[in-house]
Amino acid sequence: MKKIIMQIGKIKLSTFIATGAIIGGISLLFAFVPAPDNKTWTAPATADKETNPMASNAATIDAGKSVYKSKCIDCHGPKGKGDGPKSADLDKNPQDFTKAEFQKQSDGSLFWKIAEGRKPMPSFKGELSKEQRWQVVSYIRTLGKK
Ligand code: HEC
Repeated sequence: MKKIIMQIGKIKLSTFIATGAIIGGISLLFAFVPAPDNKTWTAPATADKETNPMASNAATIDAGKSVYKSKCIDCHGPKGKGDGPKSADLDKNPQDFTKAEFQKQSDGSLFWKIAEGRKPMPSFKGELSKEQRWQVVSYIRTLGKK
């Protein structure tokens, strides 16, 4: 009996330490992420290097298109030009997705920005699954093609 209690005590201590380490790690991470109001919006290098694990094909692009239509089109507009019906009310214009300058960003950067958001762009980490976010990245790529 005593042994069991001691073991429980040990487990609790280790979870305690692990939780502390995780929380500490996360806050450290936030300390290094640049303040979210500088002009150019740059994804961290680790996010920038991430590649799309899903194939970009008709099916994934189509899935991305429906995500875009329900969650993004109001601000970003039907062609990604940043001219959606809601865009006039925003204090910042969304970037033009058709521009080469925008399209030269990595898939990983776009994926990260969609996850994190930056005011007035909302964060979609909780609302969209990773799959949906990669799919919408694939769809955004088609907007840059003439
Ligand atoms: C409420 C309006 C709004 C909605 C909804 C919205 N965005 Fe945005 N988005 C913005 C604004 C404004 C910016 C510019 C933010 C900045 O530069 O600080 C932006 C920026 C971005 C960027 C980065 C542009 C760049 O040049 O790096 C991407 C990518 C993006 N949005 C994708 C999406 C996707 C995908 C969705 C839907 C899942 C979405 N957004 C929904 C307003 C919105």
